[in-house]
Amino acid sequence: MLTAGPRARPELALLLLLAGAGVSAATDPPAPPLFNVSLDEAPKLRWLPVLRQYDPDFLRGAMESIMGDRVPKWVHAVIRKTTEKELEHFVPQPFLDEIQGMCNFLSLSLGDCLLVNLAYEYTAFCTSIVAQDSNGHIYHGRNLDYPFGTLLRKMTMDVQFLKNGQVAFTGTTFIGYVGLWTGQSPHKFTISGDQRDKGWWWENMVAALFQKNSPVSWLIRTTLSESEDFEAAVNKLANTPLIADVYYIVGGVSPKEGVVITRNRGGPADIWPLDPLSGAWFRVETNYDHWEPPPKRDDRRTPAIKALNATGQANLSLEALFQVLSVVPVYNKDTIYTTVMSAANPDKYMTRIRHLGKR
Ligand SMILES: *[C@@H]1O[C@H](CO)[C@@H](O)[C@H](O)[C@H]1NC(C)=O
Ligand SMILES: *[C@@H]1O[C@H](CO)[C@@H](O)[C@H](O)[C@H]1NC(C)=O
Ligand SMILES: *[C@@H]1O[C@H](CO)[C@@H](O)[C@H](O)[C@H]1NC(C)=O
Repeated sequence: MLTAGPRARPELALLLLLAGAGVSAATDPPAPPLFNVSLDEAPKLRWLPVLRQYDPDFLRGAMESIMGDRVPKWVHAVIRKTTEKELEHFVPQPFLDEIQGMCNFLSLSLGDCLLVNLAYEYTAFCTSIVAQDSNGHIYHGRNLDYPFGTLLRKMTMDVQFLKNGQVAFTGTTFIGYVGLWTGQSPHKFTISGDQRDKGWWWENMVAALFQKNSPVSWLIRTTLSESEDFEAAVNKLANTPLIADVYYIVGGVSPKEGVVITRNRGGPADIWPLDPLSGAWFRVETNYDHWEPPPKRDDRRTPAIKALNATGQANLSLEALFQVLSVVPVYNKDTIYTTVMSAANPDKYMTRIRHLGKR
């Protein structure tokens, strides 16, 4: 399953892009599995049909290794000392019951499953792009980059969340993880999140969690589930207290509906909308405040902007956006998956597992 793709692929993708002919490479990398999760089922039960598709020993092993590597010992100690009754006070529903249901199934402790969920709140390096073509259509794409690629590529899945038997929203996530870093509310809006690291991450996060602030990926899911339109989604994402700083990138269905929200834990630090009439037909967000130059050691912003400039607004499409997200180093050895989406065309939601290098 984890054979490395042909090493020539990124260069090939770039050549195709520059030749203005790049479409075929978009269908080359594999799609993750697609599952339905019914929100009409009790939270403790709704993920079990998905879990049954996986080898439980693989899942237990994967969660233990992510926990061992990502969670500091003192955090483990704090959460272990917290009783289930206490956890109920600061972990909101349906997330608590969903996590509980999954860890009962896997015979893991609630504290451990909660920590695995929190470990993913830190996403390492990512790139998100929201853009508008010459006809006013909105496109949104993202690369999710994270160490532990070998495990996480096997754990990545697309999920359709059903309400009353209908697809209420779609997202991309890892098995065992109840939050979403990427998702779409059909005919309404799309959201992605990129990490904004301010240091002292676990310390701040645990303190904020105990104050009942939302994990950043849970807010994406809640917004997809509850917000009626682009404006309501932006409002909710900008103002709900969080456990960590983050960048939220949001796309809508009408011209100019695209924005990068730079979040402090308590509220918005900056709102950066598309401004197509002034030529700003796309916004690129990696992991640095857009008003500062990116650091030289990690500039994925400039190559993404160059590739978008080379594409041209008139030639923008989901395929073209996928090609932009395939340009090295926007696409790099830590890239787990690429998703491209457009809320006005919900059936075109597309995720591909990426394999640059062998991690
Ligand atoms: C998921 O649910 C939708 C809506 O009910 C249905 O059309 C589709 O076939 C289901 N897909 C899977 C993979 O079960
Ligand atoms: C992209 O194009 C814009 C508008 O022509 C230009 O101002 C900008 O410098 C270009 N950026 C890069 C990185 O090529
Ligand atoms: C868009 O693509 C066409 C060919 O399909 C090409 O002639 C044109 O130069 C491209 N536009 C830009 C701005 O690159």
